[in-house]
Amino acid sequence: MGNGALAELRTLLGNDSVLSADADTETYLIDQLRNYRGRALAVVLPRSTEQVVAIVGWCREHRVAIVPQGGNTGYCGGATPDESGRELVLALQRMNRVRAVSAADFSMTVEAGCVLARVQQAAAEAGRFFPLSLGSQGSCQIGGNLATNAGGVNVLRYGMTRDLVLGVEAVLPDGSIYNGLSALRKDNTGYNLGSLLIGSEGTLAVITAATLKLWPQMRSTATAFVAVTSAQAAIELLGMLRTQVGDRLNSFEYLPRSAVQLACEQFDSLQDPFESPYDSYLLIEISSAGLEDLDDLLQTALTSDSASELILDAVLATSERQRQAFWHLREKVPEAQRRAGGSLKYDVSVQVSQLPAFLAQVSEWVTANVPDGFLVCYGHAGDGNLHCNISQRPDAPLAGFLAREPAIKRRVHDMVKEFGGSISAEHGIGQQKVEELERYASPVKLELMRRLKHTIDPLGIMNPGKVLRS
Ligand code: FAD
Ligand code: MLT
Ligand code: ZN
Repeated sequence: MGNGALAELRTLLGNDSVLSADADTETYLIDQLRNYRGRALAVVLPRSTEQVVAIVGWCREHRVAIVPQGGNTGYCGGATPDESGRELVLALQRMNRVRAVSAADFSMTVEAGCVLARVQQAAAEAGRFFPLSLGSQGSCQIGGNLATNAGGVNVLRYGMTRDLVLGVEAVLPDGSIYNGLSALRKDNTGYNLGSLLIGSEGTLAVITAATLKLWPQMRSTATAFVAVTSAQAAIELLGMLRTQVGDRLNSFEYLPRSAVQLACEQFDSLQDPFESPYDSYLLIEISSAGLEDLDDLLQTALTSDSASELILDAVLATSERQRQAFWHLREKVPEAQRRAGGSLKYDVSVQVSQLPAFLAQVSEWVTANVPDGFLVCYGHAGDGNLHCNISQRPDAPLAGFLAREPAIKRRVHDMVKEFGGSISAEHGIGQQKVEELERYASPVKLELMRRLKHTIDPLGIMNPGKVLRS
């Protein structure tokens, strides 16, 4: 690729929208877990959908692959280019406008580069609520959320990102704009193409904007940190709460002792809500758009005779500050693991009813087979989604621990498969799990995915090597 081609790109976009100096591109070429490092021809920063069209046209002409990048918070290396130095990173950060908020339609249209926290804030300013909530919300972008079909802590009530989207605008690899932006609630006119792009991790199109569903703003909330007798008790409590508080239940997060202890050890600002240690904890939150005494409702539910048998201790947040403290304890767990040393991450799901048996089996296996590590298996228990992570023991050598990863991964994922679960519940495939997908997905599914990819992207210029082998 000659300098002339890059000069063409600069003419199309303006000089300051094409970064090629090492110092400028560095942060775009490495993923946030520092597992992947690539090289790139350049990083481009379009300001509009039309500029994305121009970039795609240029890439087609020069047969250059595009790696879309949002907030670069993904866990599977999906936004990191390969090492060839021939790919173009297309970062959406400058396409960050809220195009419209319609309180009447309970909808908003935002550009892909809008940071999730900004989307939530714009909804709130209009008296509405956008429920997608993740630990990375201060830096991940809505386009990245759509591209990964992100989950988070409110899935139990509102669903994954796919369930929160009414329409998508995207630039396809042939340079055409798919304009599916619409606030319509019902539209059964053929295949749902927006839904196909959601979760496609940049391999089918560049998502440039989305129309999102909004809900009424929550006016009442109650949050409890609960110690339960076991994971089985947690799932029984989930069933009870769902029948007693109904749709008000938005979060039901599971934390083992190892996670609470690690988070408290790593962050001075965090505190164990209880004086004595327990094996299993839950962070439970209910909320309502109406003015209701939810503390009373939650307290009544947690102190009923049947619930009391499952619960060892419980604290209800009595202030917003205490509520935030509970949430920080939950959301700091991934960072605490990183600070504490090596960690192996497995984002898995099983049917909710199978979660206790799965957890028991993984626990037993890790204890018997991973002497240099310990299980920190926490997460969105209400959705059957566990971050089944294994942390390095402080006294164990890192190299030996990491060298065992392939064997550990194989056993953890085989167990997931035996339980009929998923090897990627919410983080996607990226470049990390391409071989795992090939191993565990059905041949029919893989073949259909390959045909779709080839039909939409026959030149293979959209994020090659991610999700599917190129
Ligand atoms: P990136 O990392 O930039 O990209 C991710 C993928 O999407 C890549 O394949 C990229 O090519 C593609 N992509 C990005 N933007 C576009 C676009 N506009 N068009 C087409 N393709 C695009 N994830 C969860 O699901 N649930 C959680 O609870 C959760 N918690 C997290 C907590 C922390 C602390 C961190 C660091 C991450 C967490 N994540 C979680 C993972 C991550 O934040 C999500 O996957 C998020 O949706 C990625 O968004 P992003 O903008 O950072 O995307
Ligand atoms: C979470 O739920 O905290 C994340 O999805 C998992 C992680 O950040 O490792
Ligand atoms: Zn998660």
